[in-house]
Amino acid sequence: MATLADGVAAPSAVRRRFFRPTWAEVDLAALVANLRRLRAKMPAGTRVMFVVKANAYGHGAAQCALAAEIARAAEWLGVSSVEEGLVLREAGVRLPILVLGSLYPFESVLAAVAHDLTPVVASLESARRVAEVALRLRRSISVHVKVDTGMGRIGVRPEAAPALVRQLAEIRVVRVQGIYTHLACGEDAAAFTSRQLQAFRRVVGILSREGLRPPLVHAANSAGALRHPSSRFDMIRPGLAAYGLYPGFDPVLSLKSKIVFLKMVPKGATVSYGATWRARRPRRVATLPIGYGDGYSRALSNRAEVLIGGRRCPVIGQVTMDQTMVDVTGVPSAQVGEDAVLIGRQGRERIEAAELARLCGTIPYETATALSSRVPRVGATA
Ligand SMILES: Cc1ncc(COP(=O)(O)O)c(C=O)c1O
Repeated sequence: MATLADGVAAPSAVRRRFFRPTWAEVDLAALVANLRRLRAKMPAGTRVMFVVKANAYGHGAAQCALAAEIARAAEWLGVSSVEEGLVLREAGVRLPILVLGSLYPFESVLAAVAHDLTPVVASLESARRVAEVALRLRRSISVHVKVDTGMGRIGVRPEAAPALVRQLAEIRVVRVQGIYTHLACGEDAAAFTSRQLQAFRRVVGILSREGLRPPLVHAANSAGALRHPSSRFDMIRPGLAAYGLYPGFDPVLSLKSKIVFLKMVPKGATVSYGATWRARRPRRVATLPIGYGDGYSRALSNRAEVLIGGRRCPVIGQVTMDQTMVDVTGVPSAQVGEDAVLIGRQGRERIEAAELARLCGTIPYETATALSSRVPRVGATA
């Protein structure tokens, strides 16, 4: 159970004990295979920054990062905060880590550098602070400059980017190792993406002519890398595809539980808060120890299905904080202790995160990252 990709034993940091039978299985071999499959579609030499923010989209950041590092399936890791980077360093991750979010308060630059995390410079002010920290520590700091070409989140405007890189180039202790942008509509609007990439390419062109092109130019998330070849540059930054949440890649995470209580209810009986479900005939009802406190959304009440005995069984009544009820009348063999799959495969049936996301009116990113810390993530290679 606790082995990483390529058969390397997992360090104790990623081994967990649990008693409540609700857990997420993270197929690290599938994760590594997805990263390799994605890389194989890119031009030779394209580097991969594996995005492991938000606890690796809910998959367990340390085990996913270590699996990618050990299998040499990525050259970089991307996180959103110093805290997320620290989790990885504490687990023994050695790959370079870019903190993609804006570093504020500026003291966090110091914390980032002290823990060997690469900060992003997204404004003149952040550039100044990085320079101050470098001078104070008397050491050189590598940064990546973020250019806002249309996402409107963080970053310097394309018009201001060359001047910022020139200023940074004059500071001996700061090394601009990378420059990047982020696509707002990589999945659908090709015209919007083209405009973003044009603006970014103009910046890179100016820097190249001045001999200031940073070694790592990057722009593509999963959709960008797969759908817009001109966004690939030196490095791609996949999250979704690596976790198999993008079409053509294998899902990595399965969410599982077990039946802990089973009963017959008579016609007319109701189940859960608000009595929103009523039995039209006598039914067999199973209780699973999972609820919205685990990230299994309340919006799935009376809508989602769960796999038991290889069959789809409907969730009945409101999903509660800790428990969810399922109608298992169609599975006469169902017993206490039997496995229930809320995301993943059982027999010939499969429930994907995308299915639950649709039912909740959201996207698979949110469904995966919503899994709470209460759910143990179990790394498995098979
Ligand atoms: C800056 C940045 N790069 C890359 C990614 C990865 O995107 P995706 O999961 O769509 O591949 C994200 C995710 O939101 C991001 O914020």
